[in-house]
Amino acid sequence: MKEHVKKLAILRQLSDGRFHSGEDLGVSLNVSRSAISKHISALQEWGLVIYKIKGKGYSLSEPLELLSPDKVGYEKLPIPILLGVTDSTNQYLLDEMKTLKSGQSCFAEYQTSGRGRRGRTWVSPFGSNIYFSLYWKLESGLAGAMGLSLAIGIAVVNALESLGCQDLKLKWPNDIYWNGKKLAGVLIELSAQSGGAAHVVIGVGINVDLDDRFNAEIDQPWTDLKEVLNKENQRNKLANTLLKSMHQTMEEFQISGLRPFIERWKTLDNFMDKTITLQTGSNGVTGICKGIDEQGAILVEINGEILSFIGGEISIKKE
Ligand code: BTN
Repeated sequence: MKEHVKKLAILRQLSDGRFHSGEDLGVSLNVSRSAISKHISALQEWGLVIYKIKGKGYSLSEPLELLSPDKVGYEKLPIPILLGVTDSTNQYLLDEMKTLKSGQSCFAEYQTSGRGRRGRTWVSPFGSNIYFSLYWKLESGLAGAMGLSLAIGIAVVNALESLGCQDLKLKWPNDIYWNGKKLAGVLIELSAQSGGAAHVVIGVGINVDLDDRFNAEIDQPWTDLKEVLNKENQRNKLANTLLKSMHQTMEEFQISGLRPFIERWKTLDNFMDKTITLQTGSNGVTGICKGIDEQGAILVEINGEILSFIGGEISIKKE
Protein backbone atom coordinates (compact mmCIF):
# COMPACT_ATOMS: atom_id res chain seq x y z
CA MET A 1 0.00 0.00 0.00
CA LYS A 2 1.48 3.27 -1.18
CA GLU A 3 0.63 5.29 1.92
CA HIS A 4 2.80 2.96 4.01
CA VAL A 5 6.00 3.38 1.99
CA LYS A 6 7.40 6.06 4.32
CA LYS A 7 6.52 4.14 7.49
CA LEU A 8 8.21 1.02 6.16
CA ALA A 9 11.27 3.06 5.20
CA ILE A 10 11.45 4.45 8.75
CA LEU A 11 11.20 0.93 10.12
CA ARG A 12 13.99 -0.34 7.92
CA GLN A 13 16.23 2.28 9.52
CA LEU A 14 15.00 1.62 13.06
CA SER A 15 15.26 -2.16 12.64
CA ASP A 16 18.88 -2.09 13.90
CA GLY A 17 17.53 -1.27 17.39
CA ARG A 18 19.66 1.91 17.64
CA PHE A 19 18.60 5.53 18.09
CA HIS A 20 17.95 7.63 14.97
CA SER A 21 17.22 11.33 15.26
CA GLY A 22 13.99 12.74 13.84
CA GLU A 23 16.13 15.10 11.81
CA ASP A 24 18.22 12.33 10.18
CA LEU A 25 15.12 10.27 9.46
CA GLY A 26 13.42 13.34 7.94
CA VAL A 27 16.41 14.09 5.70
CA SER A 28 16.72 10.53 4.42
CA LEU A 29 12.99 10.31 3.66
CA ASN A 30 12.68 13.88 2.43
CA VAL A 31 9.94 14.79 4.93
CA SER A 32 9.70 17.14 7.92
CA ARG A 33 10.44 16.14 11.53
CA SER A 34 6.77 16.58 12.40
CA ALA A 35 5.83 14.18 9.59
CA ILE A 36 8.28 11.67 11.09
CA SER A 37 6.65 12.14 14.49
CA LYS A 38 3.20 11.38 13.00
CA HIS A 39 4.51 8.27 11.24
CA ILE A 40 6.06 7.09 14.52
CA SER A 41 2.67 7.42 16.28
CA ALA A 42 1.06 5.35 13.52
CA LEU A 43 3.79 2.72 13.84
CA GLN A 44 3.07 2.47 17.56
CA GLU A 45 -0.53 1.68 16.65
CA TRP A 46 0.76 -1.21 14.51
CA GLY A 47 1.94 -2.83 17.76
CA LEU A 48 5.56 -1.65 17.75
CA VAL A 49 7.24 -0.37 20.90
CA ILE A 50 9.22 2.73 19.93
CA TYR A 51 11.04 4.89 22.48
CA LYS A 52 11.53 8.60 22.02
CA ILE A 53 14.36 10.23 23.99
CA LYS A 54 15.09 13.92 23.80
CA GLY A 55 18.43 14.59 22.13
CA LYS A 56 18.74 10.99 20.84
CA GLY A 57 15.65 10.44 18.72
CA TYR A 58 13.71 7.23 18.17
CA SER A 59 14.58 3.59 18.76
CA LEU A 60 12.71 0.30 18.67
CA SER A 61 12.57 -1.55 22.01
CA GLU A 62 14.57 -4.33 20.31
CA PRO A 63 16.09 -4.95 16.86
CA LEU A 64 13.64 -6.24 14.26
CA GLU A 65 14.40 -8.93 11.71
CA LEU A 66 12.38 -7.91 8.66
CA LEU A 67 11.55 -10.60 6.10
CA SER A 68 13.79 -10.55 3.08
CA PRO A 69 12.91 -12.05 -0.37
CA ASP A 70 16.31 -13.69 -0.92
CA LYS A 71 16.10 -15.45 2.46
CA VAL A 72 12.52 -16.76 2.49
CA GLY A 73 12.31 -18.01 -1.11
CA TYR A 74 12.45 -21.68 -2.15
CA GLU A 75 13.55 -22.68 -5.65
CA LYS A 76 10.67 -25.10 -6.31
CA LEU A 77 7.98 -22.44 -5.85
CA PRO A 78 7.34 -18.96 -7.30
CA ILE A 79 9.15 -16.25 -5.32
CA PRO A 80 6.95 -15.32 -2.33
CA ILE A 81 5.37 -11.87 -2.39
CA LEU A 82 6.51 -9.92 0.68
CA LEU A 83 3.91 -7.46 1.85
CA GLY A 84 4.72 -4.83 4.44
CA VAL A 85 1.10 -4.19 5.35
CA THR A 86 -2.07 -5.87 4.16
CA ASP A 87 -5.56 -6.49 5.52
CA SER A 88 -5.10 -10.28 5.49
CA THR A 89 -2.61 -12.38 3.52
CA ASN A 90 -5.46 -14.82 2.74
CA GLN A 91 -7.59 -11.98 1.38
CA TYR A 92 -4.66 -10.68 -0.66
CA LEU A 93 -4.25 -14.01 -2.48
CA LEU A 94 -8.03 -14.45 -2.89
CA ASP A 95 -8.20 -10.99 -4.52
CA GLU A 96 -5.21 -11.63 -6.79
CA MET A 97 -5.93 -15.28 -7.53
CA LYS A 98 -6.81 -14.88 -11.20
CA THR A 99 -3.33 -13.53 -11.92
CA LEU A 100 -1.43 -16.09 -9.83
CA LYS A 101 0.21 -19.43 -10.50
CA SER A 102 -0.53 -22.35 -8.21
CA GLY A 103 2.20 -22.33 -5.55
CA GLN A 104 2.33 -18.54 -5.20
CA SER A 105 2.65 -17.47 -1.59
CA CYS A 106 2.88 -14.27 0.38
CA PHE A 107 4.10 -13.16 3.78
CA ALA A 108 3.15 -9.95 5.57
CA GLU A 109 4.85 -8.02 8.35
CA TYR A 110 1.51 -6.70 9.58
CA GLN A 111 -2.16 -7.53 9.01
CA THR A 112 -4.79 -4.88 9.71
CA SER A 113 -7.63 -7.46 9.64
CA GLY A 114 -5.96 -10.81 10.22
CA ARG A 115 -8.62 -13.48 10.50
CA GLY A 116 -8.89 -16.76 12.32
CA ARG A 117 -11.29 -19.68 12.09
CA ARG A 118 -14.94 -19.29 12.99
CA GLY A 119 -14.99 -15.53 12.39
CA ARG A 120 -12.33 -14.75 14.99
CA THR A 121 -9.70 -12.04 14.65
CA TRP A 122 -6.04 -13.12 14.37
CA VAL A 123 -3.92 -10.68 16.35
CA SER A 124 -1.20 -9.55 13.92
CA PRO A 125 1.22 -6.91 15.30
CA PHE A 126 4.06 -5.73 13.07
CA GLY A 127 7.16 -7.82 12.54
CA SER A 128 6.76 -10.11 15.53
CA ASN A 129 5.13 -13.22 14.04
CA ILE A 130 4.65 -15.12 10.78
CA TYR A 131 1.60 -14.34 8.65
CA PHE A 132 1.73 -16.57 5.58
CA SER A 133 -0.64 -17.65 2.80
CA LEU A 134 -0.23 -20.07 -0.10
CA TYR A 135 -2.42 -20.41 -3.17
CA TRP A 136 -2.81 -23.92 -4.57
CA LYS A 137 -4.91 -25.31 -7.38
CA LEU A 138 -6.10 -28.71 -6.12
CA GLU A 139 -6.94 -30.86 -9.09
CA SER A 140 -8.80 -33.35 -6.88
CA GLY A 141 -11.48 -30.71 -6.32
CA LEU A 142 -13.41 -29.87 -3.21
CA ALA A 143 -13.63 -33.45 -2.00
CA GLY A 144 -10.00 -33.35 -0.87
CA ALA A 145 -10.12 -30.02 0.90
CA MET A 146 -11.31 -31.29 4.31
CA GLY A 147 -8.38 -33.68 4.67
CA LEU A 148 -6.04 -30.97 3.43
CA SER A 149 -6.58 -28.87 6.50
CA LEU A 150 -5.27 -31.71 8.71
CA ALA A 151 -2.26 -32.35 6.49
CA ILE A 152 -1.36 -28.65 6.73
CA GLY A 153 -1.37 -28.81 10.53
CA ILE A 154 1.20 -31.60 10.22
CA ALA A 155 3.24 -29.51 7.72
CA VAL A 156 3.45 -26.67 10.25
CA VAL A 157 4.48 -29.08 13.03
CA ASN A 158 7.16 -30.59 10.75
CA ALA A 159 8.60 -27.13 10.02
CA LEU A 160 8.62 -26.16 13.70
CA GLU A 161 10.17 -29.47 14.76
CA SER A 162 12.98 -29.07 12.24
CA LEU A 163 13.81 -25.79 13.99
CA GLY A 164 14.04 -27.58 17.34
CA CYS A 165 10.49 -27.45 18.80
CA GLN A 166 9.48 -30.52 20.79
CA ASP A 167 6.24 -31.82 22.29
CA LEU A 168 4.00 -30.06 19.78
CA LYS A 169 0.41 -31.29 19.54
CA LEU A 170 -2.48 -30.83 17.14
CA LYS A 171 -6.04 -30.01 18.05
CA TRP A 172 -8.50 -31.11 15.39
CA PRO A 173 -8.71 -29.91 12.73
CA ASN A 174 -5.46 -27.95 12.65
CA ASP A 175 -4.51 -25.86 15.71
CA ILE A 176 -0.91 -26.26 16.83
CA TYR A 177 -0.43 -26.47 20.58
CA TRP A 178 2.47 -26.59 22.99
CA ASN A 179 1.96 -27.31 26.65
CA GLY A 180 -1.80 -26.70 26.37
CA LYS A 181 -1.31 -23.28 24.76
CA LYS A 182 -1.91 -22.30 21.14
CA LEU A 183 1.25 -21.62 19.12
CA ALA A 184 -0.08 -21.48 15.56
CA GLY A 185 -3.29 -21.70 13.56
CA VAL A 186 -4.39 -22.54 10.03
CA LEU A 187 -7.23 -21.01 8.03
CA ILE A 188 -8.06 -22.55 4.65
CA GLU A 189 -10.36 -20.62 2.33
CA LEU A 190 -11.78 -21.74 -0.99
CA SER A 191 -12.48 -19.70 -4.06
CA ALA A 192 -15.10 -20.59 -6.67
CA GLN A 193 -14.29 -23.78 -8.53
CA SER A 194 -13.40 -23.99 -12.21
CA GLY A 195 -13.29 -27.16 -14.27
CA GLY A 196 -13.52 -29.41 -11.21
CA ALA A 197 -10.35 -28.11 -9.57
CA ALA A 198 -10.52 -26.40 -6.18
CA HIS A 199 -8.66 -23.14 -5.71
CA VAL A 200 -7.52 -22.98 -2.11
CA VAL A 201 -5.77 -20.36 -0.05
CA ILE A 202 -3.98 -21.81 2.94
CA GLY A 203 -3.23 -19.29 5.67
CA VAL A 204 -0.83 -19.96 8.53
CA GLY A 205 -0.18 -17.75 11.52
CA ILE A 206 2.68 -18.63 13.90
CA ASN A 207 3.33 -16.69 17.09
CA VAL A 208 7.04 -15.94 17.15
CA ASP A 209 7.45 -13.20 19.75
CA LEU A 210 4.06 -11.95 20.82
CA ASP A 211 3.89 -9.34 23.55
CA ASP A 212 1.76 -9.90 26.68
CA ARG A 213 0.01 -6.61 25.85
CA PHE A 214 -2.15 -8.61 23.44
CA ASN A 215 -3.54 -10.94 26.14
CA ALA A 216 -6.82 -9.06 26.33
CA GLU A 217 -7.43 -9.56 22.60
CA ILE A 218 -6.87 -13.33 22.61
CA ASP A 219 -9.61 -15.50 24.10
CA GLN A 220 -7.51 -18.56 24.93
CA PRO A 221 -4.12 -19.51 26.41
CA TRP A 222 -1.35 -18.85 23.88
CA THR A 223 2.37 -19.25 23.55
CA ASP A 224 5.07 -18.17 21.12
CA LEU A 225 8.32 -19.61 19.73
CA LYS A 226 10.34 -17.44 22.07
CA GLU A 227 8.86 -19.41 24.98
CA VAL A 228 8.88 -22.82 23.27
CA LEU A 229 12.53 -22.63 22.17
CA ASN A 230 13.68 -20.32 24.94
CA LYS A 231 15.63 -18.13 22.51
CA GLU A 232 15.22 -15.35 19.98
CA ASN A 233 14.14 -16.60 16.60
CA GLN A 234 15.10 -15.98 13.05
CA ARG A 235 11.91 -15.17 11.21
CA ASN A 236 13.50 -15.51 7.76
CA LYS A 237 14.71 -19.01 8.54
CA LEU A 238 11.32 -19.97 9.92
CA ALA A 239 9.53 -18.52 6.86
CA ASN A 240 11.80 -20.46 4.50
CA THR A 241 11.43 -23.72 6.47
CA LEU A 242 7.66 -23.32 6.51
CA LEU A 243 7.54 -22.72 2.76
CA LYS A 244 9.55 -25.89 2.06
CA SER A 245 7.43 -27.99 4.41
CA MET A 246 4.20 -26.68 2.86
CA HIS A 247 5.49 -27.50 -0.61
CA GLN A 248 6.46 -31.06 0.34
CA THR A 249 3.10 -31.60 2.01
CA MET A 250 1.10 -30.25 -0.94
CA GLU A 251 3.04 -32.41 -3.40
CA GLU A 252 2.32 -35.52 -1.33
CA PHE A 253 -1.27 -34.58 -0.57
CA GLN A 254 -2.25 -33.98 -4.17
CA ILE A 255 -0.98 -37.43 -5.14
CA SER A 256 -2.13 -39.51 -2.15
CA GLY A 257 -4.64 -37.42 -0.17
CA LEU A 258 -4.73 -37.65 3.61
CA ARG A 259 -3.90 -41.37 3.87
CA PRO A 260 -0.08 -41.05 4.31
CA PHE A 261 -0.61 -38.46 7.06
CA ILE A 262 -3.01 -40.40 9.28
CA GLU A 263 -0.45 -42.31 11.40
CA ARG A 264 1.49 -39.11 12.03
CA TRP A 265 -1.73 -37.33 13.00
CA LYS A 266 -2.42 -39.99 15.64
CA THR A 267 0.95 -39.38 17.29
CA LEU A 268 0.26 -35.64 17.44
CA ASP A 269 -3.41 -35.75 18.48
CA ASN A 270 -3.80 -33.78 21.70
CA PHE A 271 -7.19 -35.27 22.51
CA MET A 272 -6.87 -38.96 21.65
CA ASP A 273 -8.85 -41.13 24.12
CA LYS A 274 -9.90 -38.08 26.14
CA THR A 275 -13.49 -37.09 26.85
CA ILE A 276 -14.32 -34.14 24.63
CA THR A 277 -17.23 -31.93 23.71
CA LEU A 278 -17.73 -31.19 20.02
CA GLN A 279 -19.71 -28.02 19.41
CA THR A 280 -21.39 -27.69 16.02
CA GLY A 281 -23.46 -24.51 15.85
CA SER A 282 -25.81 -24.59 18.81
CA ASN A 283 -25.52 -28.39 19.20
CA GLY A 284 -22.93 -30.13 21.33
CA VAL A 285 -22.03 -33.80 21.64
CA THR A 286 -19.86 -35.36 24.31
CA GLY A 287 -17.87 -38.55 23.94
CA ILE A 288 -14.38 -40.06 23.77
CA CYS A 289 -12.09 -38.81 21.01
CA LYS A 290 -11.01 -41.70 18.78
CA GLY A 291 -8.85 -39.85 16.25
CA ILE A 292 -9.77 -39.22 12.61
CA ASP A 293 -10.98 -41.16 9.58
CA GLU A 294 -9.51 -41.12 6.06
CA GLN A 295 -11.47 -38.00 5.08
CA GLY A 296 -10.20 -36.12 8.11
CA ALA A 297 -13.49 -36.26 10.04
CA ILE A 298 -13.16 -36.54 13.82
CA LEU A 299 -14.26 -39.83 15.41
CA VAL A 300 -16.13 -39.66 18.69
CA GLU A 301 -17.29 -42.66 20.73
CA ILE A 302 -20.75 -41.99 22.12
CA ASN A 303 -22.52 -44.72 24.14
CA GLY A 304 -20.21 -47.37 22.68
CA GLU A 305 -20.79 -46.30 19.07
CA ILE A 306 -18.12 -44.48 17.00
CA LEU A 307 -19.55 -41.56 15.01
CA SER A 308 -17.72 -39.23 12.60
CA PHE A 309 -18.17 -35.45 12.42
CA ILE A 310 -16.83 -33.19 9.69
CA GLY A 311 -17.21 -29.81 11.38
CA GLY A 312 -17.24 -28.14 14.75
CA GLU A 313 -14.93 -27.13 17.53
CA ILE A 314 -13.68 -29.49 20.19
CA SER A 315 -12.81 -28.87 23.78
CA ILE A 316 -11.96 -31.03 26.76
CA LYS A 317 -15.14 -31.78 28.70
CA LYS A 318 -15.24 -29.75 31.89
CA GLU A 319 -15.73 -32.05 34.93
C1 BTN B 1 -7.04 -19.94 13.57
O1 BTN B 1 -6.44 -20.72 14.28
O2 BTN B 1 -8.07 -19.39 13.97
C2 BTN B 1 -6.52 -19.65 12.19
C3 BTN B 1 -5.53 -18.53 12.19
C4 BTN B 1 -4.96 -18.23 10.83
C5 BTN B 1 -4.16 -16.94 10.81
C6 BTN B 1 -3.44 -16.75 9.51
S1 BTN B 1 -2.29 -15.41 9.57
C7 BTN B 1 -2.07 -15.53 7.84
C8 BTN B 1 -3.42 -15.79 7.24
N1 BTN B 1 -4.11 -14.54 7.00
C9 BTN B 1 -5.19 -14.41 7.78
O3 BTN B 1 -5.95 -13.41 7.79
N2 BTN B 1 -5.33 -15.48 8.55
C10 BTN B 1 -4.31 -16.47 8.29
